[in-house]
Amino acid sequence: MKILVAYATMAGSTAEVAQAVGEEIAKAGSQVEVLPLSEIKDLEAYDGVVIGGPMIMGWHRAASRFLKKHRHAFQRTPLAVFVMAMSLTKTGEMSQGDVPVTVDEDLPKPPAKGGNLSLRERYARLSNYLRPILAATHPAKPASIGVFGGRLEYGRLKWWAVLFAMLIIQAPAGDRRNWPAIRSWAAGLPAAFRQ
Ligand SMILES: Cc1cc2nc3c(=O)[nH]c(=O)nc-3n(C[C@H](O)[C@H](O)[C@H](O)COP(=O)(O)O)c2cc1C
Repeated sequence: MKILVAYATMAGSTAEVAQAVGEEIAKAGSQVEVLPLSEIKDLEAYDGVVIGGPMIMGWHRAASRFLKKHRHAFQRTPLAVFVMAMSLTKTGEMSQGDVPVTVDEDLPKPPAKGGNLSLRERYARLSNYLRPILAATHPAKPASIGVFGGRLEYGRLKWWAVLFAMLIIQAPAGDRRNWPAIRSWAAGLPAAFRQ
């Protein structure tokens, strides 16, 4: 199999995640290309495609646009998606429709006041993050979705991005990438693509 791992990024950390995902897929014997989304013209050469991107006030715009643009190709070519995030509300949601979703168990945080979600907690629900992604691929469905903790470093960002992340996401800076969780999800992709 020839697999494409393509990513969008704002501050660079998703590129490193895409690299690790590519390494795991290659271990299973597939040929892998890891590339930024901006370099992808068409998907004809691939037997499977993995698209990754960070949450940036919704999933990274370029990644969402890419899914929409190629939605018909995903009816032939199996797709997996990974989402990097710094904020996820623990609600018990573990899948989206009938698409299997793997969530980094270190990421979700219980709401401060039980069932009474704040605006920010409601925004950061799994279903709220994934619904637009599934709408973008419709009528195709990803074979697998992974949601993982990302990296937020204020020094790498423009002032407006810092402001947004501080006020809306309220996530402390740091590197929350859980490499074992990322690699274990990626190692399962060749089998998910064959189903
Ligand atoms: C402007 C901005 C908006 C963000 N929005 C969200 C968000 O809506 N939800 C979330 O969980 N994380 C959000 N994050 C955190 C990023 O998804 C996280 O830092 C990610 O790992 C960044 O990936 P990158 O280094 O590839 O750009 C945001 C970060 C920035 C800077």
